[in-house]
Amino acid sequence: MKLTFPKDFWWGAATSGPQSEGRFGKDHANVFDYWYDMDPGVFYDQVGPNVASNFYNSFKEDIRLMKEVGLNSVRTSIQWTRLIDDFETASLNQANVDFYNAVIDEFIANGIRPVMNLHHFDLPAELYHKYGGWENKHVGDLFVKFAEQCFRLFGDRIKDWFTFNEPMVIVEGQYLHQFHYPNLVDGKKAVQVAYNIQLASAKTIRAFRQINQNPESKIGIILNLTPAYPASQSAGDLAASEFADLWLNRLFMDASTLGAFPTGLVARLEADGVLWEATPEELAIIKDNTIDYLGVNFYHPHRVQAPAISANSLAVDWLPEKYFDEYEMPGRRMNVDKGWEIYPKAVYDIALDIRDNYGNIDWFVSENGMGVSREDRYLNDAGVIEDDYRIQFIQEHLYWLHKGMEEGSNCFGYHLWTPIDCWSWKNAYRNRYGFISTDIRNQKKTIKKSGHWFKEVAATDVLEV
Ligand code: BG6
Repeated sequence: MKLTFPKDFWWGAATSGPQSEGRFGKDHANVFDYWYDMDPGVFYDQVGPNVASNFYNSFKEDIRLMKEVGLNSVRTSIQWTRLIDDFETASLNQANVDFYNAVIDEFIANGIRPVMNLHHFDLPAELYHKYGGWENKHVGDLFVKFAEQCFRLFGDRIKDWFTFNEPMVIVEGQYLHQFHYPNLVDGKKAVQVAYNIQLASAKTIRAFRQINQNPESKIGIILNLTPAYPASQSAGDLAASEFADLWLNRLFMDASTLGAFPTGLVARLEADGVLWEATPEELAIIKDNTIDYLGVNFYHPHRVQAPAISANSLAVDWLPEKYFDEYEMPGRRMNVDKGWEIYPKAVYDIALDIRDNYGNIDWFVSENGMGVSREDRYLNDAGVIEDDYRIQFIQEHLYWLHKGMEEGSNCFGYHLWTPIDCWSWKNAYRNRYGFISTDIRNQKKTIKKSGHWFKEVAATDVLEV
């Protein structure tokens, strides 16, 4: 079967500054740089972000390879800790302004649309230590100052802006599940941080609309949407699924697209005594500054069931997981290397949800991908990784995406995570996701079979499944 996508479809891939550039030329540490310096044992094989995939030094060659796999758009991010010299005043590090100018120009010269994100988990470490990071609304205001610099410096060439990548992962990683520094478990703080990030995003959008001169330019947010399918139709499982969906998805989705948090979630948080501190003025900013379009990162769904112990009988501090337990559905298809379920139909469910519940706002798949370890298992005699599993993974997700689009959902693009194998937080280089491999011993980069395959899809706008 041949599926045709629109002519102007974004065929691309996504990375981030902290995961690709390396720390070269940076005067400040973000929380991951800091964590690695303090405790390298936390990171897989003790590999930190110092070199990453060396994009800082090899961006011209890397962008040439991205062009060679047919990408017409690439998302990366501007590192706050690279661009800014003094976080209070947002004064600039001129050498790094020059670096981002050169990167943007190189993308454009190669016919690749640069899509720019402003925050990809890379909070400056000193803002955590001085203010408690996102726990403090002042840090959100400093972030807006950084964003304003970006709009002024690069807005003549960047038409596509995103405020935050996966705010729920920041909340979970830093305050619930201990995979981001400062590695806390504190449900009440998690709730306030979620609110503070949403407020910072809305203020950034307000600043963009004041500064931006280009009517073609747009701004959005990137959310990891994880449908929370119930284990059964029992009342308990349905209630668990409803809360998980409100917390994991609709908190940021409703606030970013509709301008208000879901009332069901607010009522529950209030009844539990953990609702965020908000002022009417702040809520008005959130209401008035919704997104132009949306990026959706999709890797895996959630499957949930009623918690083993009733939420109300737990005498521990509040955690969202009081209301739902993960459910390991028998027979589910797994990517065992990463431990995530593979369920491509969820992309279709997301597409219809956006169509039906969010004003059919324009959106794109801003990340989707399959992390596989020890990919050198699949090297052929010509030195190419034969990643047929990745081709199949992309095909299946594009199949369901196309079906959602046929049924009226306004999706305009698909970005794989990631163009070139990059460094990945605590997992470092354990799981590889790219169209292009990186040998971390010598930084040699080689296009995988999936990269050659994708080039054809991107050139023709036709997917064979
Ligand atoms: C996404 C992030 O959540 O997943 C990326 O936006 C990340 O930054 C990617 O690298 C893959 O996850 P992991 O944990 O395998 O690196």
